[in-house]
Amino acid sequence: MNAKPKIYIPRPNFPQVIERLQSHFEVVHNQADQEVLREQFLAQASLVDGLLTTGSDVINGELLKVCPGLKICANMAVGFNNFDLDAMTRAGVLATNTPDVLTETTADFGFALLMACSRRLVESEHFLRDQQWKQWRFDLLAGQDVHGTTLGIIGMGRIGQAIAKRASKGFDMKVLYHNRSQLPASTENDCGARWVELAELLAQSDHVMLALPYSREAHHMIGARELAMMKPGGHLINIARGGLIDEEALVDALASGHLGGFALDVFEGEPKINPRLLTQKKVVLTPHIASSTLQTRLKMSNLAADNLISFFAHRKAITPLNPQVLEF
Ligand code: GLV
Repeated sequence: MNAKPKIYIPRPNFPQVIERLQSHFEVVHNQADQEVLREQFLAQASLVDGLLTTGSDVINGELLKVCPGLKICANMAVGFNNFDLDAMTRAGVLATNTPDVLTETTADFGFALLMACSRRLVESEHFLRDQQWKQWRFDLLAGQDVHGTTLGIIGMGRIGQAIAKRASKGFDMKVLYHNRSQLPASTENDCGARWVELAELLAQSDHVMLALPYSREAHHMIGARELAMMKPGGHLINIARGGLIDEEALVDALASGHLGGFALDVFEGEPKINPRLLTQKKVVLTPHIASSTLQTRLKMSNLAADNLISFFAHRKAITPLNPQVLEF
């Protein structure tokens, strides 16, 4: 009997998914709530045929060099900027991700952040818990409206579109979007959204939401210049990747009074947080949890597991990112 392929899961995951994987593979997993050191990750990865990664596990030339037996990395994330896809393809390593299953949940959270920062929800709760509430006041923690205002969405993939629908249909918002390519008219109608240049989006929107994939070209695409182009009192929400925003410029724009507030679920050096972000009041900061409902995270975990199982059983994958690898 052939030995089972070996897989490594470097971060905690659902016990039922690990159990399912154990019936197909020899599984090494880390259930500790402590990130494994890079050297340890490389050492474990060098011993296995497959990895179940997350967006925080970097798969690059350094790793591929020491993992000649590696055949597949199944990312439990839709974003895959942690993968050097070209290097993986050259090394014959299949990459997969988890699209679709997290779209609506992530859009819900983007909207939650938009509402929370516009209405100063977190600041208000701190105010109350700190026992600062003395009386009803006409301007107490006054925020900005969401309904009937203009939302600018940068990145109009599946998640951007789901956010646009919530905004246009549920909150009667005017929705502008900027994307590399304009969507077909029928999709734009469905989303109630109109394509504009980035400069126009920044100038016209009361709230700007980032929902685009990170790439080297998009690094710090929102910096001091772009923030200055936003409407005074505007809000910026990021549910995509931290590296899209220059965090120093963001704090400066808030401190100067130009921005009304911001909400971030993702950070450039996460899980480390720029200490200046922590000192700001009109902000909402969450630990990369936009897709985190148990239902959705379980779907993501099962899809990553299905990709591993299908690859080793049939040399097929459900959501491959570099399917050309399967042709060799
Ligand atoms: C989360 O950030 C994801 O890419 O799924």
